Parts: sequence; C-alpha cells; structure tokens
Amino acid sequence: MRYRQLGKWGMKVSEIALGAWVTYGDTVHDKEVIAEIVKIAYEGGVNFFDNADIYARGKAEEIMGEILADYPRHTLVLSSKTYWPMSKDVNDHGLSRKHIRESITKSLRRFDTDYLDLYFAHRYDQNVPMEEIVTSFSGLVDEGKILYWGTSEWPASRLAEANTFAIANGLHPPVVEQPQYSMLYRDRVEKRILREAERFEMGVVVWSPLAMGMLTGKYDQGLPEGSRFSDDEEMRGYFFSEANQAKVRALKAVADDMGLTRAQLSLAWVLRHTQMSCAITGATKPSQIDESLGAAGVDLPEDVLDRIDEILG
Ligand SMILES: NC(=O)c1ccc[n+]([C@@H]2O[C@H](COP(=O)([O-])OP(=O)(O)OC[C@H]3O[C@@H](n4cnc5c(N)ncnc54)[C@H](OP(=O)(O)O)[C@@H]3O)[C@@H](O)[C@H]2O)c1
Repeated sequence: MRYRQLGKWGMKVSEIALGAWVTYGDTVHDKEVIAEIVKIAYEGGVNFFDNADIYARGKAEEIMGEILADYPRHTLVLSSKTYWPMSKDVNDHGLSRKHIRESITKSLRRFDTDYLDLYFAHRYDQNVPMEEIVTSFSGLVDEGKILYWGTSEWPASRLAEANTFAIANGLHPPVVEQPQYSMLYRDRVEKRILREAERFEMGVVVWSPLAMGMLTGKYDQGLPEGSRFSDDEEMRGYFFSEANQAKVRALKAVADDMGLTRAQLSLAWVLRHTQMSCAITGATKPSQIDESLGAAGVDLPEDVLDRIDEILG
C-alpha cells in the first residue's frame, strides 16, 4: 500500500480507501462478512474508512464503529459526513451550526469514538452563510472533535470562498474535497476541481472510482443477480448502458496487457494524478476488496493512458 497526504496537510491516507455507502447495514447485513472485508482491507494497508450519517441512516457508522473498535485507533483514519436530512425536522439537515454540532455528537456516539479524523460537509448549503459553515467546522477542530474537515461535491467557486474566508480569519480551512470521479465520469474533476484543489493545496479523495461496479466488467453480459445495478433501478440509471458496456469490454485488452483486472486498472487510472489522495471504493464481498487492493502502488505508463483515452473517447 502507498500512502498519500491530503494536499499539503500532514495526515496520510491509503491510496485505496473503503467506504460504507449502500452496502453496510443496507445491502450487506451480515456482520461477519463486513468484518472479513474490513480485515482484508486493513491487513492490506487500508487505513481510511469512509462513512456518513446518512448511510443506512446511522447503521453504517454503528456497524463500522463496532468492527473497527478491534483495531488500534491511531492506525485508522475515520470519516463521516453531514448535510442530508436525518429526519423531517426543519433543522435536521444542511450546514447550519445547529445541525453540524448535533450531527457530530450523534456520529461520535454511533462510532463510539472521541474524535473523527475527517468530517465532510456532504454538499454545499446555499441557505447558510459561508461564515457560519466555516466557523462551525473550524470550531469542531479546535475542540478536538474532528482533526480535519472537508467538502464533498462543492462547486469549485465555493471551495475557493471557504478557503479564502478561513485563511483571512485565522480559521481551519477545508483540507480535502470528495467528488465523484471515474473513467466514466471525469469532466467536473478534470476541468474544475483538480485546479482549485491545487490552488489551495487541498487533497482530493474520490468516490465511485469503479463507476459503482460498471468498470469491473461484471456487466459485460447484462445484469448479474445480486449486483448493485440488478437490484436497484435508480443506480442502474447512472452507468448501465450499451455505450458503457462497449467501452468497458474494450478496456479488457488494456488491463490484460498490464497484468491487471479492469477494477485494478480503473483504480490505478484514478490515482494517476499527483493531486489525488485516494480512491474510495466499495465492496460487498471479500474477493472484491482483495482485487481492489491490487491497484495500490501501480503506475500506468503514458502509452497505456493514451490507449484508455482512445477507448473512452
Ligand atoms: N461523498 C458522496 O457524496 C459519496 C457518494 C457516494 C459514495 N461515496 C463514498 O464512496 C464509496 C465508494 O462508492 P461506491 O461503492 O459507489 O464505489 P465503487 O468502487 O465505484 O463501487 C463499488 C461497488 O462495485 C461492486 N464491485 C466492487 N469491486 C468489484 C469487483 N472486483 N468485482 C465486481 N464488482 C465489484 C460492488 O457492488 P455490487 O457487488 O453490489 O455490485 C461494490 O459495492 C462509498 O462507500 C462512500 O464512502 C461518497
């Protein structure tokens, strides 16, 4: 496993991270299976485990907290996020100081830990002034409830605004952005986010680097039973199409020539940017995380990147 910094900041995260979205406490309930996936990840060098209050409505944090309690706390980078509604209450969503502070209290309780290493604003909230958002997250750092804070899917202009405000006022700026990025979803990150992250020396940790499984090749012949796209119509709509199937089939020859699987090729491709801190992948089975770990430390040569670009168009 290789480790990378979050931009200029000191904490190091594993190139491959494991996330809990739509899996733990949601499609995967068997704690023994989840514990096995976590064990393989941890023993393979993964230190970053990504979560959010909204994942399985708090259950994902509870399950991961219980399992990760078996590992030394200082060897873990635990994250969570706040923004999405946790109930119908008028204040139980968004980035108001009230919701941020109440959310961190509940997340720490669910994880049964004293602090989170990373805490994300899960989206930008246009109804709250930047002053309130930045002072609220920065205050949690000062109190030791979180070590760093970050953003997820924020417009590039708001990343700049948050950094500028924090720096001007002696507050803790966001250290990392978490956008979606993969071979099948690349424009926003490449055109805007990487540039802004570089400007403010932030890290970038990306979600759905396998395009939710599409890039693994598992959908080459259709929808296999028990897969994310066979079980969830909304998810299928993101990436399952004949055009994407054709691209992913064509990627097989490139992966074969590199001695990689398509999942490994896809993760190594995401990690080719120096600004990229890690790829947060998901796994419903131990064999999946085992395969993903094979992407750590792989550098793709220029001619391979050119072949991939030709296929992606
Ligand atoms: N910030 C945000 O707004 C946001 C949004 C979404 C996700 N995230 C984070 O990003 C993490 C990863 O997202 P993701 O799960 O969509 O990532 P992904 O790595 O693109 O997809 C993971 C899914 O692909 C399938 N898969 C993985 N490896 C495979 C293999 N070797 N062979 C066959 N299938 C394989 C599995 O689904 P099946 O077995 O079910 O088919 C697995 O759950 C989340 O857990 C979360 O932490 C953040």
